[in-house]
Amino acid sequence: MLDERRGLLAHELFSQVELHRVFGGVVPELASRDHVRRLLPLVRSALERAGTASADLNGVAYTAGPGLIGALLTGAALARSLAYAWGVPAIGVHHLEGHLLAPLLEPQPPPFPHVALLVSGGHTMLIEVQAVGRYELLGETRDDAAGEAFDKTAKLLGLPYPGGPELARLAATGAAGAFTFPRPMLDRSGLEFSFSGLKTAVLHALRGRQLTETLKADVARGVQEAIVETLTAKALRAMEQTGLDALVVSGGVSANRYLRTRLDEAVGRKGGRVYYPRIEFCTDNAAMIAVAGLARLAVGQHDGLAIEARAQWPLESLPPVAGSRQPSGSLE
Ligand code: KG4
Ligand code: ZN
Repeated sequence: MLDERRGLLAHELFSQVELHRVFGGVVPELASRDHVRRLLPLVRSALERAGTASADLNGVAYTAGPGLIGALLTGAALARSLAYAWGVPAIGVHHLEGHLLAPLLEPQPPPFPHVALLVSGGHTMLIEVQAVGRYELLGETRDDAAGEAFDKTAKLLGLPYPGGPELARLAATGAAGAFTFPRPMLDRSGLEFSFSGLKTAVLHALRGRQLTETLKADVARGVQEAIVETLTAKALRAMEQTGLDALVVSGGVSANRYLRTRLDEAVGRKGGRVYYPRIEFCTDNAAMIAVAGLARLAVGQHDGLAIEARAQWPLESLPPVAGSRQPSGSLE
């Protein structure tokens, strides 16, 4: 529940991590069926916590894509129906725009324009954010996303799903320099990433060895260092290339403490500043969807009456948000 003036009034989250853990990853059909069970009670509970009556609402924002279509459709159907019943507009939000705008919920929001490093389970992107709704892709991964690289190598180490946070925890106890894994594309110019080689390198490192706790921790540390160093170097390169000194980091991997420390140091040294969402709003959440929805509703953008969700949806195809701060020079 987000109020234009009073800010975030309530926030609810039901994590499906336990549901998917036994399978070692997300099972789409189970996710959708569980959404059907959980959504309405969550909406009720958020309304109660905020002390808001449905009659006071001005719109319902929901994630319209991109992603697993079954899960998206359960959310879209519920949000669209509630909005219809309450006589207010529904706003289908782009999942990644939600991540990008999550830091706007913080006491010191980032200035525009800025460079965004979006690192989640499905995406690794560097984006020039000129204003809300004006996103220019500077570079992205050619294969695995950063979160995926964390998760896949964690699986090789026998860690439970989702592996990212588990691997990060283990890395803290690993020895520095025990393993040095490749930093792909770091030596090449450009802002593209490639993380798929990392799991092969880990597989090689583990071959023929007994998986002791020490070995696991040392490998975890090596993996985290390879990913974080690559992300940091490319983010700095993007800031140099665009001449911007503000960096936003969001998406699940932005919860990684080591990444935050390294980025703060590196960007700070250049006189810039890094902005993050609070830890709980790094991974998927409804608050960030409300922020993006409100920004669009404020300028009159909302959906029609059809229930729509998109598995594929390029970020750059989003309409600009008229009235938001525009860049000084034209970039189009
Ligand atoms: O944004 P998100 O919640 O979902 C997607 O949109 O993909 O990101 C989830 C990803 C997972 O790959 C998860 O392992 C990773 O973020 N993640 C982390 C940490 N917390 C979550 N990776 C590294 N360190 C963490 N602390
Ligand atoms: Zn996400």
